[in-house]
Amino acid sequence: MPPTIRRFAIAWILIFCSVTVFFTLIFFYHHHEWRTLGLTGISDDAQNYVQSSDVDTHHAQSSHPAKVLIVSAFYPLSKSKHPIENYKAWLNRFLQNIESPVYFFTTPAMEGLIRGCRANHPIYINTTFERAFDVPPLHGLEGEYEKMQAKDREGFRHSPELYSVWNAKPYFLDEAVRNVNSLDPFAQNAPSLPTYNYGFWVDAGSFRQEHFYQRWPDAQRVQEVFEEGSQLTGTPQDELIFFPICTIPERGWKRWRESDGPVDFDFSEGSFFGGSPKAISWYAQTFYAQHDKYLANGIFVGKDQTVINAIMFLHANKFVSVWVGQPPYLLDPHPSLPPPSSPSPPLASDSDTSTAMTPLQRPRIYPPLSRIFLPLLSVPQTYCGPEWYHYEFFLASPSERSSMLALWGNIRDSRMRGAWWGRRGWNIASLPSSMRMEPTRKDSGGGDESVCPMKELMSIESLLKTQFGERWVPIRME
Ligand SMILES: *[C@@H]1O[C@H](CO)[C@@H](O)[C@H](O)[C@H]1NC(C)=O
Repeated sequence: MPPTIRRFAIAWILIFCSVTVFFTLIFFYHHHEWRTLGLTGISDDAQNYVQSSDVDTHHAQSSHPAKVLIVSAFYPLSKSKHPIENYKAWLNRFLQNIESPVYFFTTPAMEGLIRGCRANHPIYINTTFERAFDVPPLHGLEGEYEKMQAKDREGFRHSPELYSVWNAKPYFLDEAVRNVNSLDPFAQNAPSLPTYNYGFWVDAGSFRQEHFYQRWPDAQRVQEVFEEGSQLTGTPQDELIFFPICTIPERGWKRWRESDGPVDFDFSEGSFFGGSPKAISWYAQTFYAQHDKYLANGIFVGKDQTVINAIMFLHANKFVSVWVGQPPYLLDPHPSLPPPSSPSPPLASDSDTSTAMTPLQRPRIYPPLSRIFLPLLSVPQTYCGPEWYHYEFFLASPSERSSMLALWGNIRDSRMRGAWWGRRGWNIASLPSSMRMEPTRKDSGGGDESVCPMKELMSIESLLKTQFGERWVPIRME
């Protein structure tokens, strides 16, 4: 063979091999087991804040199940990010499907729309407030909020009106639970006075995709979560606030002081939170006290999530949470290690807590490479619902969870059929189990929990101490 042809052939073989290796890697990267086993970049000490999973040991089979109230509101913005049709679709997904009692604040003009979405499920619509600025804690703050917008690094896409809608949530939740517990708005249906044990704020737009949640959040599950939360934190159940998070703080945040102002990174999710009426009142009071203190010092408080972050740093022991990026506990290499927050750790002496407290790294759920190439190839991912809304799954009953698992299995399946190998007629049986299709079998346990495991309840205090060091305490302002 002449040398030019040989070189040409070798070059082609090399190109062929590297392309093959590349596609094989992409394919197997999305094989779930492989992904969770090695590539998430989790430190070995993940168990430090991932608590034991023996939820089953404290199933409260109480004869008086807790009553749970959902609180929400809709105040359309004059210049909104989304057209009103979107809101209607989201409101329908939420109000038509979720059967738990709802207390809803809105404008008189929107009352008809809300009632129309609700079908026959219990709802109490309160139209006392025309605008979010009319709620007592925000009354008369328009001028200050307008001035404040200049300090918002995202001021170009926010408005004082939007700040007011965000910052009214703690008031709405507290007020709704008080109203309902003091007078019975559902009296036509039930003669007895309902006393709600738990109230949760739910953003009106937080059910955007198809779902099977109905009796949500599940009262039994909520009770379990708060019992477990109390064990994790040592805080009484009726003083705990459940607040999902979307990331964990970088270690540098340990130098944060209260006087620096709100904690400005995506930590708490503003779309869902709650607890017992007592905890909700504490939270609303604390929120507005913090808000007023910062406002008086000329500090920007327009983004409620950053104010909440500050409150979570300052009162970490009051918060429990769930985080979709949490590493799977099954991979824990030291299952017997005591959690750092347990009141009397059986073996951790002072000297070995320091070694036990290696900070976590954020797992890279979607690394940049796949973010670039996946949309091009439409390779199916391990789809487990929208990550932000994992708490919906977390607080659902077992049967609704399994319906959701089946639904997600179908979504993965249809994505796979749209993918390049699907169109080429690959044999489904040869695919990894996590990619195989399941027929939609609602309520029949068709889903696969090993593909989409439910994350564990976390204590915010343990999480922050894992990141910042066991002796970390926030530096408060006078
Ligand atoms: C609506 O909410 C306000 C504020 O909480 C309350 O004062 C009022 O009584 C409520 N309206 C009704 C009709 O319950």
